[in-house]
Amino acid sequence: MIKDIYKQRILVLDFGSQYTQLIARRIREIGVYCEVFNCDVKKSDICKFDPKGIILSGGPDSVGRKDSLSAPEYIFSCGIPIFGICYGMHLIAKQFGGKVMGTGEREFGHASIKITNTSSLFKDLDEIQDVWMSHADQVVEIPVQFAQIAQTDTCFYGAMADEERRYYGVQFHPEVTHTKNGIQILKNFVVGICGCERKWKPRFIIDNAIARIRDQVGDDEVVLALSGGVDSSVVAALLNLAIGTKLTCVFVDNGLLRLNESEKVMEIFSSQSFSMNIIHVSAENRFLEALRGKLDPEEKRKIIGKVFIDIFNEESKKLKNARWLAQGTIHPDVVESAASETGKAQMIKSHHNVAGLPDDMDMNLIEPLRELFKDEVRRIGLELGVPYNVLYRHPFPGPGLGVRILGEIRKEHCDLLRLADAIFIEELYSWGLYYKVSQAFAVFLPIRSVGIMGDARKYDWVISLRAIETVDFMTARWACLPYDFLSKVSNRIINEVEGISRVVYDISGKPPSTIEWE
Ligand code: XMP
Repeated sequence: MIKDIYKQRILVLDFGSQYTQLIARRIREIGVYCEVFNCDVKKSDICKFDPKGIILSGGPDSVGRKDSLSAPEYIFSCGIPIFGICYGMHLIAKQFGGKVMGTGEREFGHASIKITNTSSLFKDLDEIQDVWMSHADQVVEIPVQFAQIAQTDTCFYGAMADEERRYYGVQFHPEVTHTKNGIQILKNFVVGICGCERKWKPRFIIDNAIARIRDQVGDDEVVLALSGGVDSSVVAALLNLAIGTKLTCVFVDNGLLRLNESEKVMEIFSSQSFSMNIIHVSAENRFLEALRGKLDPEEKRKIIGKVFIDIFNEESKKLKNARWLAQGTIHPDVVESAASETGKAQMIKSHHNVAGLPDDMDMNLIEPLRELFKDEVRRIGLELGVPYNVLYRHPFPGPGLGVRILGEIRKEHCDLLRLADAIFIEELYSWGLYYKVSQAFAVFLPIRSVGIMGDARKYDWVISLRAIETVDFMTARWACLPYDFLSKVSNRIINEVEGISRVVYDISGKPPSTIEWE
């Protein structure tokens, strides 16, 4: 039972395409478990993974280049179906004696492809298909055992197949949504050709995770730092279902949370539907005390992280049998930290999470969401009864308002910011804009500016509003919110929040600016 939903799985080999992770997500959407490995993976790791099919991603390299990236020789001798996308197709062609050439020009964007031969890859598809191209090289001669199965005006070998050995290649990208029936093509490969059953579904994922958690922790107790964010909330709901009262959640109110956040989190998770063990730690004074007089953003972040860890450590030690520490690590975190271990990524800000816990905690880690993408986490969260507004809420940084109050953090400024932020968010909801932006919040600027209200002069603080649109939070555009909307929010903040005399809107993109101000 435990391994069942992973058993029939697909391996994606990464040759550096910006769409590689997207391939994995699409396969999982189809209902088949899938993982991405680097293209230089060892034979033993492939054997251990035991895939039912292999997909070779695209990539910026050129197979004609000396020392170009190649696929492990082993995959062409083990009898597993292989599907090459773009660069992946070039690799297959080269491997079996075909020819790949640069056309001198990059073809990028929509193309219409004509299916010229029957193949299992294009089963149930009409003759003409809208696809998305992004390539410079193309196959100009296919290997002997292969047949052309599709072509475009600019690319004679738009797709090729060796049905007998179950090797396929396409020049276009079926994983991007611009390829209209891309998901059908991927489904034809993983379900039709590789024969995978579609078991990677929320209900099965939950059942499987529960069985694994029970197996892993036995009668031990588990402690979880609950923040009220998507990942820790879903871990809490999952563990609650798996081990009930053996789970204790620690929720730390650091005084840097949004308006009524602490009450909302406690209400949801101690409600009848969950009725979890939650320790609520009111630690506002402790955090503010530690932050007093600190101005430097990095120093502030580090202090918030350290105080959090100290408190969490103290609370965990009070629990007698807590041998396990649960974390909401998700798949992209694993991928990112692997990438950052190469040392190529420069540290811009020290994002904190519970990973920095001291060794003397002497607990084992349990990370039940480690294999899941964010959208999968949300889907299983819904199935577990975590409220929609928790699952689809904008992200909130670990250091909270600490990175949204520039310079020194004072309680009175936190209180002003909370009120202004709540008005902004409330109006986003009521104008139907909340889910159209990826993240929105208010920032407290410690500058005073002159204003006039009634006949009285004001000399008060400034609030900046920030709203961005992004897919991955690595880059972001500022959101073009309607002027009427901004005007309403600004009026409300200045009228309703005593102590604010001016509201500005942040029109900086990332890069060069980061999303948070500190
Ligand atoms: P930046 O400001 O780096 O933010 O462009 C990118 C995304 O990360 C969030 N963020 C954090 N999340 N701990 C977190 O859990 C942190 O320390 C942290 N700092 C920034 C930020 O809100 C945005 O979504």
